[in-house]
Parts: sequence; structure tokens; C-alpha cells
Amino acid sequence: RFMRLLLNMDAKEKALADYLNIQFCRIVPGDSDEDASVLDEIGKTAAKELHALLPAGEFIVAVAGGSTMARAAEHFSPELSQNREFIFVPTRGGLGESMSIQANSVSDRMAQLVGGENMALFVPDNLSEKAYASMKSEPSIKHTLSVMKKANCLLYSIGNAKVMMERRRMSHGLISSLEAHNAVGEAFGCYFNENGEIVYRLSRFGLQIEDIEKIPYAMAIAGGSTKAKAIKAFMKYAPHQTWLITDEGAANLILKGV
Ligand code: F6P
Repeated sequence: RFMRLLLNMDAKEKALADYLNIQFCRIVPGDSDEDASVLDEIGKTAAKELHALLPAGEFIVAVAGGSTMARAAEHFSPELSQNREFIFVPTRGGLGESMSIQANSVSDRMAQLVGGENMALFVPDNLSEKAYASMKSEPSIKHTLSVMKKANCLLYSIGNAKVMMERRRMSHGLISSLEAHNAVGEAFGCYFNENGEIVYRLSRFGLQIEDIEKIPYAMAIAGGSTKAKAIKAFMKYAPHQTWLITDEGAANLILKGV
């Protein structure tokens, strides 16, 4: 409660934080679906608010992929590491998305811009059971996964389900099945419906949705009217300590009760 008093949110941001039952929201003007420059404002704001969120100390930051995260990373700077030390680690190895927006690339870029170590995880996420089992026992991979599990800070985005199905070139059969289950969003390899129920789980390699509960500093970075439903549904999994950086495109729809 005391912390809340110190957090300067305007009325709409406070209403959104209360509605989503999370600690803090920042809403940047505009809709990133209509104006791509809004995405840069979201990124700048994320970098600034992360500076406000984190105390001095040592952090293992788990970093997700996606175009929002890739764009946000470009606004990170050494200011963040003035009184902090960082190890960045991707939340997963890769789900067949283009290299520049994979978690590996985003965490590497953040480490370069902020200053700090990056641990890469070069393992495709969609392996067979057998390949998965043998990869998991590789010492270097084991080490990265164990560091990931110790993350005390998490930076991630939430995707629109349809956009993510297409980006990952899912089969028509799977797309129809996910549509039949009314999937609206995706994060951490989980597709979920409007009620926040997981309707399909894609990945086993990397940070799981169940792991986020215990991460003390967590920031979701996601905006655009097409993500309103996804953000709203996903926030059921987000622990109370979550900070959300979004835009009016998403916020206005969520507050209208999409
Ligand atoms: O693929 C990584 C990921 O973080 C997904 O979990 C999420 O759905 C997506 O990226 C968001 O991507 P974008 O920012 O491009 O909408």
C-alpha cells in the first residue's frame, strides 16, 4: 500500500492497474497498431520505468522475444547499470521466428546497450521429445536453464494469438483448432482464451508461465488495440507485482471491458 502511494499514476493508469489487479501501469498516448512511433514511446517508457522499478543490486533478467521487445531494447542505456549489475538471459531458445526478434537477440542487445553479460540459449524450442531430453542434459544448456530459473527480473510482451499463429507458421489444422478454442493471446509459449484459460502449450524449453509468479520484478510491455483482449486475459497469470507499459490503444479498450 505504501509503495502504491509513491507510484505516480494518473487516474486512468490507476484504474487500469486496479482493473487488472497489478501494481503499476503506464499508458503512453496513441495506438501502436495505427502509428508505429508509439512503439518507440512504449520502449522509451519501459526503459525509464525499469530504472524506477529496480533497486540497486544484482539482477538476472529473463528477456522474451517479439517485435515489441526488440524495439524496446533499442531504448535501453547504461544509465540502468549505474548502481546495478546485470546478467541477461533469453526466456527461450527460439520458436522459428525471425532471428532479429528472437529472445536471444533481444537479450544480447540489452546486454550490449545496458552493459552486462548475456547468456545465449541456442536450442530450437520445438524439438521432439527425444531430442529435447538429450539437449536438456547438455552441461552448457543445463547451466543456462538454471540461471534462467534464478531470474529475479522478467521483461516480456504478450502477443495477439492470430498474429503469433501466422508468425510461427502453424498448420491450418492447429490454427483452426486454436480458433475453435477462441485463443486471443499468447505468452511464454501458451495460447489462452479470453478467460485466461490455456488452450494450447507450445514450448517446453525455457521459462514457463508457472515460473513467473515468483519473479519479484516483472514488466510486461505490450500495446495496440489488437492486443487488448490478449493483455486483459494474460493478466490473470501476472503476479500482483507486475508493471505494465502499454498504450491508449490497448488501455481504452480494456477499460471499456473488451
Ligand atoms: O515470440 C516471443 C513473444 O514474446 C511471444 O511470447 C509474444 O506473443 C510475442 O513475442 C509478442 O510479439 P510482438 O511484440 O511482435 O507482438
